[in-house]
Amino acid sequence: MPLPKAELHLHIEGTLEPELAFELAARNGVTLPYADTDALREAYRFEDLQSFLDLYYELMAVLRTEQDFADLADAYLARAAAQGVRHAEIFFDPQAHLARGVAMGTVVEGLWRALGSSEARHGVSTRLIMCFLRDESAESALATLQAARPYLDRITGVGLDSAEVGHPPVKFREVYEAAAALGLRRVAHAGEEGPPEYITEALDVLGVERVDHGLRCMEDPALVERLVRERVPLTLCPLSNVRLRAVDTLADHPLPAMLDAGLLCTVNSDDPAYFGGYAGDNFAAVRETLHLGEDRLRELARNSFLASFLEDDEERRARYLAEVDAYEFGDAVS
Ligand code: HPA
Ligand code: ZN
Repeated sequence: MPLPKAELHLHIEGTLEPELAFELAARNGVTLPYADTDALREAYRFEDLQSFLDLYYELMAVLRTEQDFADLADAYLARAAAQGVRHAEIFFDPQAHLARGVAMGTVVEGLWRALGSSEARHGVSTRLIMCFLRDESAESALATLQAARPYLDRITGVGLDSAEVGHPPVKFREVYEAAAALGLRRVAHAGEEGPPEYITEALDVLGVERVDHGLRCMEDPALVERLVRERVPLTLCPLSNVRLRAVDTLADHPLPAMLDAGLLCTVNSDDPAYFGGYAGDNFAAVRETLHLGEDRLRELARNSFLASFLEDDEERRARYLAEVDAYEFGDAVS
């Protein structure tokens, strides 16, 4: 049995496996510029964040109908459940769909078809987090928030993703203020490829409650001290960091040093179809390669629930934490 965990950094569009991509392409009459799933997998050799994003946006062409989004999310939830995920806070990128003529309602209602039955079908509770693309304009982000207004009962929070360098958090001050006024929770990618200053700005200017990635905080001891003191959760994605070359190899990943420093770290999959593994695969990889002991793995699992947006259901959070505390490790944990 896998270790119970929450997944807090997961782009639903990044769960599109090659097989489903071709199935949806056929269903929607879309031609992909790859001969077959093997040829597509061959393209998964990334230099950096941008080279991944180019393919990530290209493949979204196959997502057209509510049912496509429902099938995508249901496939993720089934895989996640099999790897011990009990709660998932799921990012989606509406601007990438709106730009292709797919309406906000198609995306949200489609995802909701799967999320609404996730507890019954997979035993996974869920939240939705709407991300703004930071390489698009602030005006576009504001228009996206407006377009989401009819669906806010389905959306827990907002996030910020896509190409980081050159697009500092401050660009999105106004839309984050508007989101906060609407009662939405706030997170942002910061310190993946961008400098530690972006992490500070995300906290001070955007008021984020969690930092996605946040890896580069390790370059600034004063920032580390602050993140520890303020108990700011970081949603780390070790296999993503290897594939996008934020670290040279998994053995070089700073996760052990980050835990030793007292940071509230969590382990997540980011875009599992592209980066070689789901949440449990990431746990298994850090256990094996970074030699994390059972206490550390249990701490990571506890952190995932402590950092999740379950304030509206503390009873559930307590139940999940009790599952982690009662967990007995075997040899093949993930
Ligand atoms: N970083 C930034 N943007 C993203 C990512 C990521 O890892 N995945 C999907 N959009
Ligand atoms: Zn991400």
